[in-house]
Amino acid sequence: MPARTIDGKAVAAAIRVELSNEVAKLRASGVVPRLAVLLVGEDAASRSYVTAKERAAAETGIQADIHRIDGSGDPRDVEEQVGTLIDGLNADPAVHGMILQLPLPEGVNADGLLQRIDPRKDVDALHPENQGRIVIGQARFYPATPHGVQQLLVRCGADPGGKHVVIVGRSRLVGLSLAAMLVQKRAGANATVTVCHTGTPDLGAVTRQADILIAAAGQPQLITAGMVRPGAVVIDVGVNRVDDATRKRGYRLVGDVDFDGVSTVAEAITPVPGGVGPMTVTMLLSNVARAARMHRSAGAHGN
Ligand SMILES: NC(=O)c1ccc[n+]([C@@H]2O[C@H](COP(=O)([O-])OP(=O)(O)OC[C@H]3O[C@@H](n4cnc5c(N)ncnc54)[C@H](OP(=O)(O)O)[C@@H]3O)[C@@H](O)[C@H]2O)c1
Repeated sequence: MPARTIDGKAVAAAIRVELSNEVAKLRASGVVPRLAVLLVGEDAASRSYVTAKERAAAETGIQADIHRIDGSGDPRDVEEQVGTLIDGLNADPAVHGMILQLPLPEGVNADGLLQRIDPRKDVDALHPENQGRIVIGQARFYPATPHGVQQLLVRCGADPGGKHVVIVGRSRLVGLSLAAMLVQKRAGANATVTVCHTGTPDLGAVTRQADILIAAAGQPQLITAGMVRPGAVVIDVGVNRVDDATRKRGYRLVGDVDFDGVSTVAEAITPVPGGVGPMTVTMLLSNVARAARMHRSAGAHGN
């Protein structure tokens, strides 16, 4: 029997209904959740991601302001300009969340700028303070993509509790944060977690042990049927462009998993597109609402 397809669009839509209700309550109490998006330079993919965030924010009642910075000058001047903008947004009580869209132009130090964002407004959860809090089980925010993966699992009948989860990829943005989240002793986590990377000698030998296999390597169709244990749940985070002359735009998007092959072995699988992608934007917006709520509570306590 072919694998059940996990519909990320449907799960994201359900979460957005919950989120819209929460935002409506915040607005009724006089708080308009507000996100500042810093877009530096002219990266085409970044521009389209930012447009998607702006549209999704508007749908849920969140105010999103896009700050465009020309990234073509000397990298140090660009850093100074972005840093000054971050300082201003940090100081603005009407702004609850801030994201610096990555990648930045060549030579601009992303780490330095990410660390300049007030951790209480860091809704991408990339500030070292927020990363550290995830590791010690005291998260303020979860990064959007790992949180989207975790919610997909929980809401689609594949709770990670007690399961062996194998993650392929150890980036701060996805693999490492997800491992830190799923290993915690709490509901919706409590998994035995193995993390693979390019230093893993026999990848298939490890991935075949997974009850839940999560691919976040950025390698088109890296995971094939022979690397998956029959009955496993497979989550494909990868988004890769491959040339396709039959498409008008000259390429198509594929994941890190060979969907057709793995579907013959797995119990459930996410498609690309339509799996993890729609969850990412939704969980980012959920962090903005959370930041607005925390800001309101801090105000109520005179902080
Ligand atoms: N759907 C979404 O919303 C969403 C969001 C974020 C990212 N993504 C996609 O997810 C993928 C991963 O993103 P990322 O930012 O985490 O990428 P990244 O920073 O490039 O990290 C990739 C990780 O995969 C590991 N890796 C690469 N090739 C491998 C191989 N052949 N065998 C084992 N491990 C391998 C790397 O190992 P080393 O550490 O040893 O180099 C690294 O840890 C990309 O396709 C990206 O576009 C999707």
